[in-house]
Amino acid sequence: MKGIILLSLLCRFADTEINGDLKLLLVQTVWRHGDRSPMKTCQTDPIQERNWTFGGGGYGQLSPIGMKQHLKFGKLLRKKYVEEMGFLSKRYSSKEIYIRSTDRNRTIISAISNLLGMYGQNDGTNVVGMDYPDDADWPAGFVPVAIHTSDHSRDHVANPDSACNRQAVLWAMAKSSRELQAFQERPDVAVLLLNLTRNCGETVNIDNLPDLHDALYVEQIHANDTLRATNTWFSDEMYNMMTAVARQVRLYKNGIFNEALIMNNLDVGLEIQKIRGGSILNEISTRMSAKMECLNKNTPGCKWISGLKYYAYSAHDSTIFAIFCVMGIQDTVVEDAGYPQYTAAIFFELWLNITDNRPYFKVTYRQNPISEELRPITKMVDGCTEDLCSLEILKKLAKRSKPDLPMEQWCELNPQSSSSTGSLLYLAVVSVMSLIYNDG
Ligand SMILES: *[C@@H]1O[C@H](CO)[C@@H](O)[C@H](O)[C@H]1NC(C)=O
Ligand SMILES: *[C@@H]1O[C@H](CO)[C@@H](O)[C@H](O)[C@H]1NC(C)=O
Ligand SMILES: *[C@@H]1O[C@H](CO)[C@@H](O)[C@H](O)[C@H]1NC(C)=O
Ligand SMILES: *[C@@H]1O[C@H](CO)[C@@H](O)[C@H](O)[C@H]1NC(C)=O
Ligand SMILES: *[C@@H]1O[C@H](CO)[C@@H](O)[C@H](O)[C@H]1NC(C)=O
Repeated sequence: MKGIILLSLLCRFADTEINGDLKLLLVQTVWRHGDRSPMKTCQTDPIQERNWTFGGGGYGQLSPIGMKQHLKFGKLLRKKYVEEMGFLSKRYSSKEIYIRSTDRNRTIISAISNLLGMYGQNDGTNVVGMDYPDDADWPAGFVPVAIHTSDHSRDHVANPDSACNRQAVLWAMAKSSRELQAFQERPDVAVLLLNLTRNCGETVNIDNLPDLHDALYVEQIHANDTLRATNTWFSDEMYNMMTAVARQVRLYKNGIFNEALIMNNLDVGLEIQKIRGGSILNEISTRMSAKMECLNKNTPGCKWISGLKYYAYSAHDSTIFAIFCVMGIQDTVVEDAGYPQYTAAIFFELWLNITDNRPYFKVTYRQNPISEELRPITKMVDGCTEDLCSLEILKKLAKRSKPDLPMEQWCELNPQSSSSTGSLLYLAVVSVMSLIYNDG
């Protein structure tokens, strides 16, 4: 009996150094913001933008529920990475942590709320006059943590829907395919879209269905009775059909087709995936490689990465789903709603086997706002048989989805006129294409 207790105690601590020869070097995560107001709705909906008053008011704003969800999430992260594993410092260290948010109020405020849970509690850890000012007006224990961001429309890393003409053209190519034509003509899909069009007072198609589905999801959380009383055409049955169709549309939008779609010598699905999830997966993978290369090096170029232990992207369901799609795990990770929920998060951990000096990665997933665990999902990745998998596998996945050119250039490269590789041809096409697109 005593032996069992001792063993389970050992296992609890074993997390930091499994078998004594594994060491955690870097944690990177991409999380979704918390509960929010809808992004838009159709014109006949009685619940319009003016009816959303929390979190500053209007569409797309984080609610107090969403703030609390991220506060709890931050506390969970503290429990795991600070208290249980002793990986991160007890007090905020500017060298260890970097937080990058997309330039949206809800993701920035989610990051603030998360870090409040992780490093801003009045639990006696933080030092007054050192971590925060000694002033009666300052909330005791609150340590502000810097949140970085970049222009949303040009954020090709964390925003899969950044401005990108190439993606728009690829999506149009996809929609013209036999598979997507057949999907839109399928009687259940066509009837649903017609019904919604009639009831919404505007055209509902596969492009705007996911937004409408999202609005109705949010209205059910915050105004279910009003929704049922005022949108009398809305029913659980209809919502379930919308969920199924929206799920399929999101897969298509991310380049996941049942039949490979080759047009103009391009694998259209892969090309879409490269644009939506390729940059962020490559950034994550490259940062792991940089961490490895800088191990035990003191050169100036290594200073930042050597100190870094935790990098978080505060982003969107679309960001996480795009990562699933480039990793080929979109059908296995999310069990229930089929799409990342509020505060869902994917974690990439870099581990080093200190005996043979080889790097491994581990992927975990937080399912929803009440999840208390980060579930290991590494084995879902093709080629991985254990929770820890050779970093080479991740590098290979990243390479497969690496954008061919810097995104600003690549997004102006028309997939309908490019024939093969060859950067001279690319550059010529880019300059012509940017003229054409700028007119559009
Ligand atoms: C939305 O807000 C408007 C203006 O405040 C109000 O007249 C209307 O009743 C509200 N609608 C609902 C469904 O609450
Ligand atoms: C962010 O909040 C400001 C007001 O604080 C508002 O004007 C703006 O529209 C919001 N932006 C987004 C993207 O929600
Ligand atoms: C479409 O609406 C009609 C009535 O407006 C209803 O009888 C029918 O079941 C609806 N179909 C779908 C797919 O929701
Ligand atoms: C909203 O109301 C409907 C019908 O009463 C119910 O089936 C559904 O579960 C409710 N949704 C939420 C999120 O409470
Ligand atoms: C670390 O590497 C050594 C030497 O190759 C090996 O014996 C050991 O099993 C590895 N540890 C783990 C946890 O994989």
